[in-house]
Amino acid sequence: MPKRTTIRDIQAKANDGQKISMVTAYDAFSAKLVEEAGIDIALVGDSVGTTLQGRNDTLGVEMEDMLYHAEIVARSTERILVIGDLPFGSYQVNEDEAMQNAVAFLKAGAHAVKLEGGASVMPIIERMCEAGIPVMGHLGFTPQSVNITSGPRVNKSRDELMEDAESLADAGVFALVLEMVPAKIAQEITNAVGIPTIGIGAGAHTNGQVLVFHDMLGFSPDFNPKFLKRYMDFHGQALGALKQYKEEVEQGKFPGEEHSY
Ligand code: KIV
Repeated sequence: MPKRTTIRDIQAKANDGQKISMVTAYDAFSAKLVEEAGIDIALVGDSVGTTLQGRNDTLGVEMEDMLYHAEIVARSTERILVIGDLPFGSYQVNEDEAMQNAVAFLKAGAHAVKLEGGASVMPIIERMCEAGIPVMGHLGFTPQSVNITSGPRVNKSRDELMEDAESLADAGVFALVLEMVPAKIAQEITNAVGIPTIGIGAGAHTNGQVLVFHDMLGFSPDFNPKFLKRYMDFHGQALGALKQYKEEVEQGKFPGEEHSY
C-alpha cells in the first residue's frame, strides 16, 4: 500500500521550497481524482454546504454531514493527507464538544482537522494538539464569520493578522490557510511563522495553494471571485452533453445498434 502523506511531509516540502497543493474533496469521485492528480492534501471542506448542499453559505453544515463526507474521502484514497473541516458551531460553543468533534474526524479516517479563527481559538488548538490531533488554522476571510464581515472580506489589519498567525503557530497548528489576505501581508506572515501557509486569494508567496474542487473545474459558472482560476468548463461541457443526449433520445438517435442487445 502506498505511504500516506503526513504533516511532516508537508512541512518538509515547505522547508525544501517546494509548493504544496490542496484541493477540496467530498465524495469518492472527487477524492480519487484529486489523489490521482498527485495533489498533496484533500480538504473535506465545509464548502460542501455551497458545492453539494445548495446553500448560500457554510453556516448550516452539520458535524454529521462532515463525518459522512470525511469517511468517504478517507476510504476512497490511499496516499493523500485528508483534513476534516470543523463546521460552524462544532468548536465555538464548548471545548469538550470541540474535542469530541475533532476526535470523531480522526475516527472517521481524517488525519487532521481545520478550524477558523485567530487568538481566540488558541486554547482549543492547544488541547487538540496535546491529544494528538493535528490542526490546520484558517485566517483572513473566514467564511463562518460572514455575518460579522458582511460578505467575503478580511476585517483585520496587517498587525492583527500577523499576531493571530503567530498565536496559532505558537498554539501548535501544523499549517495555516490564508484566505483573501493581501499578497504582501501573506508573504510577511509566511516568512514569519515557520509553518507552511496555504493561500486562497493570498498571492504567490505562500507555501502552497488551495482551491475548491467545484470552483476550479467550472461547476459553478456564476461564482467568479478574483482569486479563482478555472481549469475547465465542466458546467458548459456537461450541459452540452446532456442537451445532446436529450435531443438524441427525442430524435430516436440513441440508442443505436451498438448499444442494443
Ligand atoms: O471549506 C473550504 O473549502 C475551505 C477552503 C476554501 C480553504 O475552507
